[in-house]
Amino acid sequence: MHRKMRKKAAVAILLPAFLLASCGKTGGQGTGGRTVSSASPAEGNQRTLTIGFAQVGEESDWRMANSRSIEETFTSAHGYHLLFEDAQGSAENQITSIRDFIQQGVDYIVLEPVVETGWDTVLEEAKEANIPVIVADRKIEVKDDSLYTAWVGSDCLLEGQKICQWLKLFADARGIPQTDLRIVNLQGTIGSTPQIEREKGLKEACEIYHWNLLAQERGEFTQAKGREAMAELLASHPDLNVVYCDNDNSAFGALETLQKEGRKIGTDLANGKVLVLSFDGTNKGLRCILNGTIGCIAECNPLHGPRIESIIRDLEEGKQPEKIQYVDEELFAADNTVPEVSVNGTSYPVKAVTGQLISDRGF
Ligand code: AHR
Repeated sequence: MHRKMRKKAAVAILLPAFLLASCGKTGGQGTGGRTVSSASPAEGNQRTLTIGFAQVGEESDWRMANSRSIEETFTSAHGYHLLFEDAQGSAENQITSIRDFIQQGVDYIVLEPVVETGWDTVLEEAKEANIPVIVADRKIEVKDDSLYTAWVGSDCLLEGQKICQWLKLFADARGIPQTDLRIVNLQGTIGSTPQIEREKGLKEACEIYHWNLLAQERGEFTQAKGREAMAELLASHPDLNVVYCDNDNSAFGALETLQKEGRKIGTDLANGKVLVLSFDGTNKGLRCILNGTIGCIAECNPLHGPRIESIIRDLEEGKQPEKIQYVDEELFAADNTVPEVSVNGTSYPVKAVTGQLISDRGF
C-alpha cells in the first residue's frame, strides 16, 4: 500500500483501538500489553504518531531502565500514542504483537528482539503493510536487510573485547600469569545478540591469552538464574577464579551464591578471591564496583528512547537515517590499575567509579 494511503487507513483502524485502550486493553493476546500515552498531539505537531513497541520483558534492571526511556520519550505530550507490548521473554509473543500492530495500522513498529533469528516472515508482513520497522538494542538476522529501516544499539562484541582486555592487563599488573585464570561464563538468553557477541569476545581472548574457560551455564540475564547457575558452576568447578557474567543481574545472583558458599570475592586473585566481571553498568552494578564485589563492568547503555525518536523524526522529515547506529559506551572499574584498554587500535579509557558518578547516572 502507498504510504499516504496507509496513514489514512491507520486513522480509520485506530479509532476502535483507542476505544479498546480506554477499556484497559491494547491487543496482543497473552502478552503484557499496555497503552502508555493517550492520543493527544502536542501543540505544533501535525498529527499523533502511533508507535507499536515490542519489548523483550522485565528480566533485568537494564530492561526496566530501557522501558522507562521508551515510555518517557513516546508520550502524548510529545505527539505519540505508544502501544507497549511486554513479550515476557518470548519471541513468539513478539511476533503476535507485531501482527497486532500491523492490524491496527500503526505508523511505526519498534522491535527490541529477544533473539536474532526468526523474523523474516513477520517483517515481510510489516513491509507489505508499508510500516517502517526500527530495531533497537539486540540485532536481527534476516535474509533481506530492507525488512527493517534502521537499527540502534550496543556493540556487544566490543564490550566483550574491552572487558577481556581489562582482565588481561589487570592480571599482568598484579603479576598473575594469564594461564592461572580459570573462567566460568554465566550466559544471557541463548541466541540473543549480547549472549552471542559477549561470548565471542571471551572466546577470542581465551584463545589469545590461553585462559581456561572451565564452563558456561545459562544465567538468562536474571538474578534468580544467575544464583542457580553459579551454584552449579561452583559445585562442578570449585577452582574457578573469574566469573564472566553476561549482565549485572546475573552477576548479582552469582554474588549471592558465592557469598552463601563462603567464597572470598574481589580483585585479589593472588589471595584466592573470585573476580566477578559484568556488563550494563546500572546503578546497583556500579555500587558493587564501589564495594569491591564486581571488578569491572563494560557499559551497555539502555536509554534508547531519544535515539529511536531521532530516527523517527528523520523519517518524518523525509531524511534517510543511518542504517546501523552504535552507541558509545564506557568501561568502569574501582581504580586506575588499568588506565585504558586498546581494541583494534582504538584506546578506551577506564573510568574509576565514584559516588558522584553513580548519582549522576540516569539508570
Ligand atoms: O540486550 C541488552 C541486555 O539485555 C542487557 O545486557 C541485559 O541486562 C538485558 O536484559
